Amino acid sequence: MSVNPEPSREVTDPKAMRRAFGMFATGVTVVTVGGGTPHAMTANSFTSVSLDPPLVLVCVGRSAIMHGCLTEEGAFGVSVLAAHQEPVARHFSNRWRTLGAAQFDTVDWLPGSLTGAPLLEGTLARFECELWRTYDGGDHSIFIGKVLSLEQRDDQDALLFFHGRFRQITPDRSEVTA
Ligand SMILES: Cc1cc2nc3c(=O)[nH]c(=O)nc-3n(C[C@H](O)[C@H](O)[C@H](O)COP(=O)(O)O)c2cc1C
Repeated sequence: MSVNPEPSREVTDPKAMRRAFGMFATGVTVVTVGGGTPHAMTANSFTSVSLDPPLVLVCVGRSAIMHGCLTEEGAFGVSVLAAHQEPVARHFSNRWRTLGAAQFDTVDWLPGSLTGAPLLEGTLARFECELWRTYDGGDHSIFIGKVLSLEQRDDQDALLFFHGRFRQITPDRSEVTA
């Protein structure tokens, strides 16, 4: 049992934070921007926010190249990865990858019709968003996007991230979806 019985008043240990935050299982997305210098970044901070208006958010580190791209471009795409796309997640989180359009050479994608943001093929869901608001999130910024278009498929397993590792989950397809 590794739970600390002494509640601390100030949390400062980044390793402890990463470990504890990592106990929250998430899906895995690739956030993209189009324009003259397209860019993509693996992100598991993606969250749905609101149905009316339709809003989603993603938290992006201030030191990430994507941070400036989102601010400049004002629109972005989100592709929710399927179970077989762990290599895609690893590629777009690798800081040593080739940048610019060449970073997309190893994946299948199409430009979104509304924003031009690359949307990855074979993914579970895809969203095109216009940047709606940006909020201070400490060493990250919270980018909220208004969803302009969405699509979804049910025939693939999902890629998850939990406890610092990629996992997979198979939905129970007998369940009725609301
Ligand atoms: C599973 C996973 C999830 C990640 N989620 C985020 C995230 O939500 N926000 C973020 O800023 N970085 C996240 N990262 C780290 C970025 O993908 C990584 O730092 C990337 O190299 C940044 O790209 P860029 O600087 O070229 O834009 C994640 C990495 C992994 C492996």
